[in-house]
Amino acid sequence: MSVLVTGGAGYIGGHMTLGLLDAGESVVVLDNLSTGFDWAAPDEARLVVGDVGDADLVARLIEEHEVDAIAHFAAKLPRLFRRREDNMRHGTASTPFRPALASC
Ligand SMILES: NC(=O)c1ccc[n+]([C@@H]2O[C@H](COP(=O)([O-])OP(=O)(O)OC[C@H]3O[C@@H](n4cnc5c(N)ncnc54)[C@H](O)[C@@H]3O)[C@@H](O)[C@H]2O)c1
Repeated sequence: MSVLVTGGAGYIGGHMTLGLLDAGESVVVLDNLSTGFDWAAPDEARLVVGDVGDADLVARLIEEHEVDAIAHFAAKLPRLFRRREDNMRHGTASTPFRPALASC
């Protein structure tokens, strides 16, 4: 299975990536490194530095890597949920991100 892990250079996403690799899955990490670190994404995963709000990039990654599933951990907390507009821009309900999820 091919999995796109957003926020895979962060704490939870990095552990998810390690678990998926241990299970023999193929992983591509999408992270803008705003709070994450490139070294936190395991070498066996392909790290793409970019934003989950970039719908074209997400769509291209899904196609190029034949992504079967997305694990979405890209987030900015705790400030994120203090403002509704930030929630809509970066959270799971992100408008640009939703079409990419639907295509998966
Ligand atoms: N840390 C915990 O104990 C914990 C527990 C339960 C749930 N969670 C949830 O897991 C998610 C991740 O938390 P975390 O602790 O790993 O945070 P984190 O800051 O360590 O990781 C978030 C990652 O997302 C990246 N990121 C942020 N905005 C992005 C964007 N627009 N595009 C691409 N990448 C972006 C950051 O660079 C970072 O690498 C959050 O939704 C959090 O609520 C965390």
